Amino acid sequence: MNAASRFPTQSNEGNAAAARVALLRQQLEQAQYEYYVLDQPAMADSAYDEQFRELQQLEASYPELSRPDSPTMRVGALVQSAFQTHRHLARMLSLDNAFSDSELVAFEESITRIAGEGAIKQAGGYTAELKIDGAAVALTYENGHLTFGTTRGDGTSGEDVTSNIRTIPSIPLRLRGAAHPPVMEIRGEVFMTFSGFEVLNEARVAAGEAVFVNPRNSAAGSLRQLDPSLTAARPLKFFGYSAILPNGTTPAASQWALLELLQGWGIPVAPHRAHFATIAEAAAWAYTLEHEGRATLGFGIDGGVVKVNDVRLQEELGVRNDRTPRWAIARKFAPDMAVTKLERIEVNVGRTGVLTPYAVLAPVEVGGATVTFASLHNADQIAHKDLRAGDMVQLVRAGDVIPYILGPLPEQRTGAEIRWEMPTICPRCDTPTVKYGDDVATYCPNVMCPGRLLEGLVHFAGREAMNIDGLSYARIQGLMEANLVHDAADIFDITSPQLVALERFAQKSADNLVEAIASARERPLSRLLFGLGIRHVGSQAAQLLARNFGSMKALREASPEALANVRGIGDIIATSVFDFFSNPTATRLVERLEERGLTMTEPNSISSGGSLQGALIVLTGSLPTLSRSEATALIEDAGGRVASGVSRKTTFVVAGDEAGGKLDKARELGIEVIGESELLIRAAVQ
Ligand code: IVH
Repeated sequence: MNAASRFPTQSNEGNAAAARVALLRQQLEQAQYEYYVLDQPAMADSAYDEQFRELQQLEASYPELSRPDSPTMRVGALVQSAFQTHRHLARMLSLDNAFSDSELVAFEESITRIAGEGAIKQAGGYTAELKIDGAAVALTYENGHLTFGTTRGDGTSGEDVTSNIRTIPSIPLRLRGAAHPPVMEIRGEVFMTFSGFEVLNEARVAAGEAVFVNPRNSAAGSLRQLDPSLTAARPLKFFGYSAILPNGTTPAASQWALLELLQGWGIPVAPHRAHFATIAEAAAWAYTLEHEGRATLGFGIDGGVVKVNDVRLQEELGVRNDRTPRWAIARKFAPDMAVTKLERIEVNVGRTGVLTPYAVLAPVEVGGATVTFASLHNADQIAHKDLRAGDMVQLVRAGDVIPYILGPLPEQRTGAEIRWEMPTICPRCDTPTVKYGDDVATYCPNVMCPGRLLEGLVHFAGREAMNIDGLSYARIQGLMEANLVHDAADIFDITSPQLVALERFAQKSADNLVEAIASARERPLSRLLFGLGIRHVGSQAAQLLARNFGSMKALREASPEALANVRGIGDIIATSVFDFFSNPTATRLVERLEERGLTMTEPNSISSGGSLQGALIVLTGSLPTLSRSEATALIEDAGGRVASGVSRKTTFVVAGDEAGGKLDKARELGIEVIGESELLIRAAVQ
């Protein structure tokens, strides 16, 4: 009896299982690629988990179907002791650095000296890439299958960390596409995002473990775990930037083409790559990257890399001392991450009374600027990160982003660090602080608190509000300290001699400020409204209100319903505005501003002359002369609004022929019903 006849069913079953396994692998690989490489997940997590489990079960039942590049095989067994060394196909090179644009120009000149004038442009210029701040690795692919993953080591050979590399989900175990070189090393950088790094360190703090100093160290450390399941738990990512064949050549004619080839194979390639004809363009790209792009990446870069695009020209230029290519250079940036001492935690009082803690730091250079303060947002964040006064802290500041404390380095504590608590009395006015409901914020409830007033005045004078040129934070502080200003109206009483009497005011700057204040009287109602800092009234709501009501007087007299009738204004804003004008302190301030000659109207308001201001009108039936859209335009031009249904909020109904249910509803609710001619009269009345 042969094997087939002894196990007839198993063979059929086996075929079906093999087909199913192949399909599951293909679908899971595709899902992993979409999720980790393209960042565009297409399969639901639940479906992924279900297919993954099914594949695991099939592989357990049919061990002969197991394959090392199956999506289930990313996390393997423990490495017994130290890692083996693995020789790279060719030396892993390093990069020369340029710390200024003139050093970039010198780089181009050195190429021109060898290859001749115009050679670079002729050969297709440069490719520019991010310089990822991670750990360099070489991935060996044999016929498209990942067979080795090694660290850079001494450049000639590195440590064989294949089992750890395999756990990085964006690194394909099998390349996409076909016709892969029999043997090839793909090189790139393993790194960690800032958010992944933060989460990892938070978990380490919680577990009482030492935190990593920066994402690069944590990526490098993660690759050297003896237990791959530990590496698998680390949020590692990969970007590839080069490929080497056994003869030392690269499988593309240009760096740009190589990056596209890598991408086609399913290798993640860093964003923001660019192609330039001249070094000046590359320098401009690097500048924008440092000052804008860098802040948006979410992972660390320490510069941009500029490479001669054409591979033949690269070969002609060659390598210096077997170490750095003459055809590539790193334009280095200022570090965007630093460690410094958190000297103490102080609290600022905002204009709404919210207490915001901030860090006072030992000055440190990060992201190209010296940083001494960082906001800490609220007490929960400080508790969550367990930040203590005296801690050494990690700080990031990428591009123009405000400095942000990632967390403390608890292992550097001396025991002298002091835990922090939100003050129970306002640091500015000593009033006991309060919390409202489950709002995380703590407030100073004193509306006359000098801290709140100061912030309120800074807001009032700010660019989007009254835009008073020269009335800076420090100056407002000085004016308050000199008892010249207690509220917004006082600003308009300031005279030039008063300012000159203060320190730091020369005659010229005093005159300028008084002039700037005088011209701020002309600001339209919308800016004044925003500047008053009414709760929930941002600059857009202020514009809507100003445009619809036209004057401070109309706003003061408006009912909450009329306020809420403005398109874009909801009940919360309407109530807040109504409450503001019901408060005698607020109305007194508004009056004092009016007495000082401020513009209390909006030039382009729909209500300038609008006779249906705030009215909510329903149209029903067909009107004798006006079409529905003409009637709507007429009403809106007069400041009214058209609603589709009749409710208690309806001001009146305009009924024409064959008016139906809406007319009945209006009668039922006792709402006034008029005809077209009356509408024309009401809309025209000034
Ligand atoms: S190319 C052919 N491209 O920076 C020259 N390196 O400081 C080999 N790096 O050793 C490197 N991003 O580990 C190149 N887009 C990029 C890079 C990059 C990061 C690393 C790499 C290199 C180091 C030099």
